[in-house]
Amino acid sequence: MIAYTPIDISCKIPEHELLVDYIEKNHITNLKDQYGYTSLLCAIASKNLILNWQDANDVFSNRTNKELTFAPGVTDIFPELIDIANLLPFKDILGLVLNLHTTLLESHRDDLLNLGVYSPERYNVLLSPHYEQDSFFISKEKHGEKHYPKILKEYPIYAFNNNEAYHGADIVLDKRVILILIGNLDEQKHIELINRSVEKFKDYVIRY
Ligand SMILES: [Fe+2]
Repeated sequence: MIAYTPIDISCKIPEHELLVDYIEKNHITNLKDQYGYTSLLCAIASKNLILNWQDANDVFSNRTNKELTFAPGVTDIFPELIDIANLLPFKDILGLVLNLHTTLLESHRDDLLNLGVYSPERYNVLLSPHYEQDSFFISKEKHGEKHYPKILKEYPIYAFNNNEAYHGADIVLDKRVILILIGNLDEQKHIELINRSVEKFKDYVIRY
């Protein structure tokens, strides 16, 4: 399987300081109490019906909306993030989340969406200047050898297999910010993009 590849899409990303400032002011405040998760998460778009974007119970509720809704101010402050979402091969975006790492992340798998979809099926974007720095790792076994993907400055979008490969973060990098995109993929467009990217970035691809 292809466990990791940079993605062949050039994009603009927001200023790091602006992102950190936004996350510090708008992150979900009860994540640790409700879910035991300690890094700062900030939902910026969702198909859930959200009244309070800082309340985990609201953000992760099962009340769905028909439309993707953006958190207040996001379309004005971070148009680059919306452009990125539109450039990726989703047929239906369910949520966009900013994540500012504050703690180590144990080796784990996520089995949420896109099970059985051509791997790698999870798209993230590195939004802070931590290119080519070890922290985020991928591993075939839960406690197997760790491989640190090289995330490229010119191509900060990457894809990895999040439901068969294990992954985590074993160093806390100062104010590392990623965008997590959750949605249903247009499989044909997704496969074309992955194959093109794997060919272009063959020296950076991780396979198991
Ligand atoms: Fe994960």
